Amino acid sequence: MDIQRLISKFHEIFPVDGKGDVRLFFSPGRINLIGEHTDYNGGHVFPSAITYGTYGVARRRDDQMIKLYSMNFSDKGVIEFPLNDLDYRKEHDWANYPKGMIRYIQDAYGALPGGLDILINGNIPNGAGLSSSASLEMLIGVIVSEMFDLKMDRIELIKLGKKVENEFIGVNSGIMDQFAVGMGKADSGILLDCNTLKYEYAPLALDGYKIVIMNTNKRRELADSKYNERRSECEKALSRLKTVLDIQELGDLSEEEFEANKKLIADETLIKRARHAVYENQRTLKALQALRKGEMKTFGKLMNDSHHSLREDYEVTGKELDTLVEAAWKQDGALGARMTGAGFGGCAIAIIASDKVEEFIRKVGREYQEKIGYGADFYVASIGDGTKEITKEVV
Ligand code: GLA
Repeated sequence: MDIQRLISKFHEIFPVDGKGDVRLFFSPGRINLIGEHTDYNGGHVFPSAITYGTYGVARRRDDQMIKLYSMNFSDKGVIEFPLNDLDYRKEHDWANYPKGMIRYIQDAYGALPGGLDILINGNIPNGAGLSSSASLEMLIGVIVSEMFDLKMDRIELIKLGKKVENEFIGVNSGIMDQFAVGMGKADSGILLDCNTLKYEYAPLALDGYKIVIMNTNKRRELADSKYNERRSECEKALSRLKTVLDIQELGDLSEEEFEANKKLIADETLIKRARHAVYENQRTLKALQALRKGEMKTFGKLMNDSHHSLREDYEVTGKELDTLVEAAWKQDGALGARMTGAGFGGCAIAIIASDKVEEFIRKVGREYQEKIGYGADFYVASIGDGTKEITKEVV
C-alpha cells in the first residue's frame, strides 16, 4: 500500500486542519484454515489474519461529527453524521459498519469526547469472504480506542464488532471473523474455542509450503439467507438431541456420541448438518495436533475432509468452489485445499509446495476458466498481525 498517497488523499478530502496529528492504522482480513461453520455451533475454529486488509488514516475533530471517506467507494463521497445520531441508514451504505461500531462503543463506554475524520482504503477483494467487514469494524474500534486513549479491551471490541454484524447490519454470524482480525499474529494460526473464547496460537511454520488463496470471483449473493438457514437447521438438530442429552452445543459432542444419538434428530437433512458441525469441530482439534507434530500431510488431508463435509453434508460449496478445490487436489505439490469462510462463492485456500505455486496457479486457473467461463484470482497469502496502529512503522 502506498501510505504517502493515503496521507495526501486524506489532506485533499479533509483540508481544514483538524485537531492534532494524523495517525495511521491497519486491520487485516482473515482466512480460516479449518473449522468451518463451527463457531456458532460452540465448536473450534483455526483462522489466521492475512496481510491484505484495510488501512485507516484518522485525525480528531473539535466538533461532534464523524466524517468518513473510503477510496474503495469514492463515488459515495464523504459520509458524515453527528455522534448523537447513529441510527442505521440505508443511504449510508458501507459507512453503516463504522457507524454501528461507534454506536456500540458509546453505549458501552460512554459518549466520545469529540469527532473524527477518517479516510479508508482496503485491498481485500470485496465480497470474497475474507472478512472485509470484520476488518473495517475492528479498524474503527481500534481507531476510536487509540485516538481517544480509551484503552478498550480487545476482546470487548471483538464482541462489539460481532454485535454490529448481528444487530446493526442483521447478519447472524459467529465470532470467528472479528476474533481472527482482532487477535491475529504474524506466522500463527489461532485455535479458538468459540464457546469459552479460550484461544491459543500455533506457529504456522509451513516449511517449504505456501498458502494460496483462490477467489472464485462469484459474489456471495444468496449467502446471508442460506447462512441463516444453516444456523437454524443446526439449532433444530440440537434441540432434538437435547431432549435426551445433557449438552449445550453441537460442539460438545464427540463423533461417537453423535453416531449413537443421531436418530433423535429424525430428519435426514438435519442429521447431515449436525454431522458436519460435530465432525468438523473434531477435525479442527486433530488438525492442530497434526500441525504441532509437523505432520503436514495429515493437516492437508483434514482440510480435504473438511471440504468434502462442507460439500456433501453442509451443502455450502457450489460449483465454483468445488471446481477450484477439486482442480487444486489434483496438482503436484498440493497438500490440501478447501473452501474458506461462509461458502456459496467467495474464496478457497490451498497449501502448495513453494516451488510448485506458479504451475499450480496456471493449471488450476486454466481449468476454472474452461469449466466456469470466467477467471479465478490467486493470491499467495502471508499471515500477519491483528488490527493495530502503524503510524510509527510507516511515517
Ligand atoms: C462467516 C461468518 C463466521 C463463520 C463462517 C463460517 O465467515 O462470519 O462467523 O460462521 O462464515 O465458518
